[in-house]
Amino acid sequence: MKLIIKNGRVLDPAGRRDGIEDIYVRDGLFSAPFEADGETVVVEAAGLLVAPGLVDMHVHLREPGYEYKETIATGTAAAARGGFTGVACMPNTEPVTDNRTVVEYIGKKALEEGAVRVYPVGAITRGSRGKELAELADMREAGAAAFSDDGQPVMDAGLMRRAMQYCKMLGAAIISHCEDKDIAGGGVMHEGYYSTVLGLKGIPAAAEEVMVGRDIILAAETGCPLHIAHVSTAGSVALVREAKKRGVPVTAEVAPHHFTLSDLAVAEYDTNTKVNPPLRGESDVQAVREGLADGTIDVIATDHAPHSFDEKNVEFDLAPFGLVGLETAVGLVWTELVQKGVLTPLQAVEKLSRNPAGILGVSGGTMAVGAPADITVIDPRLEETVDPAGFAGKSKNMPFAGRRLQGLPALTVVAGEIKYRRS
Ligand code: DOR
Ligand code: ZN
Repeated sequence: MKLIIKNGRVLDPAGRRDGIEDIYVRDGLFSAPFEADGETVVVEAAGLLVAPGLVDMHVHLREPGYEYKETIATGTAAAARGGFTGVACMPNTEPVTDNRTVVEYIGKKALEEGAVRVYPVGAITRGSRGKELAELADMREAGAAAFSDDGQPVMDAGLMRRAMQYCKMLGAAIISHCEDKDIAGGGVMHEGYYSTVLGLKGIPAAAEEVMVGRDIILAAETGCPLHIAHVSTAGSVALVREAKKRGVPVTAEVAPHHFTLSDLAVAEYDTNTKVNPPLRGESDVQAVREGLADGTIDVIATDHAPHSFDEKNVEFDLAPFGLVGLETAVGLVWTELVQKGVLTPLQAVEKLSRNPAGILGVSGGTMAVGAPADITVIDPRLEETVDPAGFAGKSKNMPFAGRRLQGLPALTVVAGEIKYRRS
């Protein structure tokens, strides 16, 4: 297929381009200009933003094992509808993605059924149980893009240090779910005023920060690229900022719910606000926004965590942690960050494409001629009230229903093929 996207505002962080241009695609790659013929699809994009395909580096696709929550097919359909052309999927599947067979299974299934590119993340430890290292080199060879025990911390510092030594050798990043289980102590929401008022057990900010500090020390020592998943506290932002100044190979991500909502949102005991790390205090929300603005936080990633209605339809204490984010991320970034002046459109695109692609070491984040033609077109004027009933994803657990968002994905192109077009 040949494709021309005309008159859009092209936002290309790799080429430092921000201006009105036409984009040409043939044979799945960005191309030099050519004349349209009968086979060429021409998209008129005046007033729209044309970006390199967005990459969500923190997604739970739930396959294999939890297909009632999400599958590779439904999760990637949700990604395409949300404007993402690639997703990294976390290994807390059943069986856990801790060996070559599961990595290959996901890769194959994604090629057959996936609407977008899928980058499997391998587990750091066997079964993500934190006791012994998984077969990291074998998984890397089979296509694992990075390593993480996401959902669980690696509590054993000696084991994490050895994992970093291996990953340094393999040239792969460790994505760290920073949570000290002893400090978290079985809490279900942020420890603060609201946990006291609501009578719910709190998770102190220190549970996250202690581990961010530990992992920064280990990354500095081993030289392993360390990526901190879902940063949620002011203290974590400060630790990453200071480490970057010293040249530690650390990067960090924040999820839309952590720059949008505080623990106040839990006040109705809505289990759709139960997430790990939890929604934090107002000052933490401010701090992650500042971290985004000053470059301390490199990436916006959703931590898309689907759970079924029945699983969430229980007492707050009993509900699983997690909320879905693929189909609201762009709208939240535009409404909360771009329109409010926290990020420029080019910075937002950088944190949604080039930076995650770079950390994963995958294609993307560029619109250079010859690169794979993954494209996300965003309509900055488009407004919508969030309605989970319209989601392509299987699960609807999220606290943004009814919220008004402006700035939404209009077109998603993967390797030159249109995977989603807003009607
Ligand atoms: O809220 C969360 N849900 N946090 C995690 O770290 C894991 C995720 C899940 O898998 O449901
Ligand atoms: Zn996590």
